[in-house]
Amino acid sequence: MKNSVIDLTTNTGGIISPNPFWLASAPPTNMGSMVERAFEAGWGGAVWKTIGQPIVNVSSRLATLDYRGSKMIGLNNIELITDRPIETNFKEIEKCKKRFPTHAVIASLMVESKRDAWHEIVKRTNDSGADGIELNFGCPHGMSERGMGSAMGQVPEYTCMVTEWVKEVAKVPVLVKLTPNVGSILPPGRAAVKGGADGLSLINTINSVMGVDVDTFMPYPMVNGMAAHGGYCGPAVKPIALNMVGELARDKETKHIPISGIGGVETWRDAVEFMLLGSTSVQVCTAVMHYGYRIVEDLIDGLTNYLREKGMTSPKQLVGKSAAAVTDWGNLDMNYKVLARVDKDKCINCNLCFVACDDGAHQAIKLVPDQARGGKAYPEIVDEECVGCNLCSLVCPSPGCISMVRMDGETQKLSWREVQEKGIAIKPGHANKNIERA
Ligand SMILES: Cc1cc2nc3c(=O)[nH]c(=O)nc-3n(C[C@H](O)[C@H](O)[C@H](O)COP(=O)(O)O)c2cc1C
Ligand code: SF4
Ligand code: SF4
Repeated sequence: MKNSVIDLTTNTGGIISPNPFWLASAPPTNMGSMVERAFEAGWGGAVWKTIGQPIVNVSSRLATLDYRGSKMIGLNNIELITDRPIETNFKEIEKCKKRFPTHAVIASLMVESKRDAWHEIVKRTNDSGADGIELNFGCPHGMSERGMGSAMGQVPEYTCMVTEWVKEVAKVPVLVKLTPNVGSILPPGRAAVKGGADGLSLINTINSVMGVDVDTFMPYPMVNGMAAHGGYCGPAVKPIALNMVGELARDKETKHIPISGIGGVETWRDAVEFMLLGSTSVQVCTAVMHYGYRIVEDLIDGLTNYLREKGMTSPKQLVGKSAAAVTDWGNLDMNYKVLARVDKDKCINCNLCFVACDDGAHQAIKLVPDQARGGKAYPEIVDEECVGCNLCSLVCPSPGCISMVRMDGETQKLSWREVQEKGIAIKPGHANKNIERA
């Protein structure tokens, strides 16, 4: 299998691309010349910066969350849709498609909530030669105040209605891009499917205020003495996006629908995680705004090598492989027990595990001097107190030093759901003991 031929070609709801890596609708897809450069660099698809009625953007529109030396782990923006004329965008799409006939160009669209307005822009998209349409029902600022963007995506009935309007005239596949600014992603996802969507894209950005300058008292990004909430994205949002993608990939009403996963994708591993939970393709914005189009080379190489190592030939084989492994808490086995174990040879005596367990967990670590090692104090686990929460292994800076080891002897599984459904009486007890039946 080491020399197997890998085919990265991807079909997302009828949109074919030479690989699963697409640029998300955002500044990196602002205009034809940029999309063409991205395709030259290796991107398989591009969702055009959202096209719609002309708007005016403000200057000063981005702010970042930098954390302990890492720049831009989160990005906040108050940018609206394209500020370039509709006809210019469609002319450039046409030109781009002529030059790159096998790449996927997807027109992201957003217009006011009128059937005629949607029909008109969709017909123009049909004429432009674009391979697909993405409905932007997710912009959390600016456009929602005008009754568009997340104002649509937060109301399932509107999502369904507009999707139906679009499908009445669309000659290419239609993806619906969902907003994460909802209590549950299932109602809008199901509504899009009911409206006839060929695929779902998620997530758009999350409502956020990035921070406040504690000297000037000004929240940022600041626009002439005022700020507005914006949309949050980048590596920090990946867990939220993965959860939502997984939920839709498991739901009986939406699981047959292809997903284009978005939110914090920066490396091939991120992309694989999205695929394992149910994404067919992935879209990237922040990582390209940070490092440029060139990151696609690592994405392609990394995915290709990974597939080869796994004995697979196509990313299709990954899609949804881990989806069923996520379940409701009530189905988890309460008799599964792990305990922390310390490898003294790898310990650097920093005591971080001791402090974390003592103040943030269950006081299950003692520091015991080891005469054989010059009298230095090493952590020892008090098995009777350890609940196997993982905290010590997560804070330990030395790789492989603390492992969580299974100790339950693989006894009979028992879930909270079974306890409820079968009316099993159990005795409350310490978390590192098997559940006792009363
Ligand atoms: C500056 C900026 C502008 C954006 N503009 C749009 C847009 O016009 N239409 C849209 O659907 N999403 C827009 N997005 C959201 C992205 O397409 C994407 O959903 C989000 O950034 C999450 O992906 P990421 O974590 O890779 O950045 C924008 C994001 C940023 C940062
Ligand atoms: S797993 Fe949790 S309870 Fe056990 S030693 Fe580590 S931090 Fe303490
Ligand atoms: S955190 Fe890790 S390295 Fe530090 S004392 Fe604990 S086991 Fe040793």
